[in-house]
Amino acid sequence: MSGRTALVLGGRTGLLGMSLTRALEGAGWNVRPAGREDAAVTDPAALGALVRAAEPDVVFNAVAYTAVDKAEDEPDAANELNRALPASLGRLAAELGFRLVHFSTDFVFDGKKSTPYEPEDPTGPLSVYGRSKLAGEQALLEIAPPRLTIVRTAWLFGPGRRNFVRTMLSLAAEREEIRVVHDQIGSPTYTPDLAAHVVKLAEIEADGVFHVANCGQASWCELASEAVKLAGLHCKVQPITTAEYPTRAERPRFSVLSNAKFKAATGITPRPWAQALRDYVFQEIPPE
Ligand SMILES: NC(=O)c1ccc[n+]([C@@H]2O[C@H](COP(=O)([O-])OP(=O)(O)OC[C@H]3O[C@@H](n4cnc5c(N)ncnc54)[C@H](OP(=O)(O)O)[C@@H]3O)[C@@H](O)[C@H]2O)c1
Repeated sequence: MSGRTALVLGGRTGLLGMSLTRALEGAGWNVRPAGREDAAVTDPAALGALVRAAEPDVVFNAVAYTAVDKAEDEPDAANELNRALPASLGRLAAELGFRLVHFSTDFVFDGKKSTPYEPEDPTGPLSVYGRSKLAGEQALLEIAPPRLTIVRTAWLFGPGRRNFVRTMLSLAAEREEIRVVHDQIGSPTYTPDLAAHVVKLAEIEADGVFHVANCGQASWCELASEAVKLAGLHCKVQPITTAEYPTRAERPRFSVLSNAKFKAATGITPRPWAQALRDYVFQEIPPE
């Protein structure tokens, strides 16, 4: 689908934004990645000027306040980026007619289910971050721009920016043992895979809320163990409980996302996370 124009907020430096920029370029789109230097996105006038100048067919919003623990102490900053920014974008989308693709998180759920979450399942965020992301979704659904895609995803790893897998590999290279939480289960997701799937959703003009993640599930400990094994590091990965590693923000115990709605819309089955992790570790982490 060459010739379409995408504005990617967070497309210069964001973990997901960078992969989105690359995937869109690969698919033949005209891509305008935007970072802090391009506009103060929290200023509606500056945001409006940025969007109007880009004349986009689709705006991908990969900007967010993602510091889950810090958000507990900075709810205003989290809400400014996670609720007010999508709301501003929703109003612009309603006025100008572009498709808005916005990202949200598995942390909108309370983690009390034991089977994968569907997009329609009741939400119940446990943290300031989760509540701010849910508020962003709700603001958009209320404004209801005519062409809206909300993609909830989870547990991202990928090239270009610090992420859980990279942190674990750095620690494992220096230590004989790392201790990692084993009683939180989620959907590890590789940003280049997610980006390709999201481009597909935009190209087929899919409206509504979708869950998109790599297939399968893991605990943080299983994800770290697999990465350490693939990297050939001789570090013991010791499972611990959440109680043994208290954090400022509470996280859901189980937040695996079901891709069923995404598969039905696109015909695509995302590959298992372990296969994607192999690509990440072999291609992106330079050998010692
Ligand atoms: N990471 C995960 O595991 C995960 C899981 C579930 C859902 N998500 C969702 O996926 C989306 C992308 O997350 P991500 O992990 O790619 O985020 P990220 O790596 O933290 O990137 C966030 C982007 O937002 C920009 N940004 C932050 N504060 C800003 C501000 N005040 N003004 C302008 N730009 C600002 C950052 O720019 P700078 O580089 O200049 O700071 C960066 O480009 C988010 O909606 C997130 O909620 C992420």
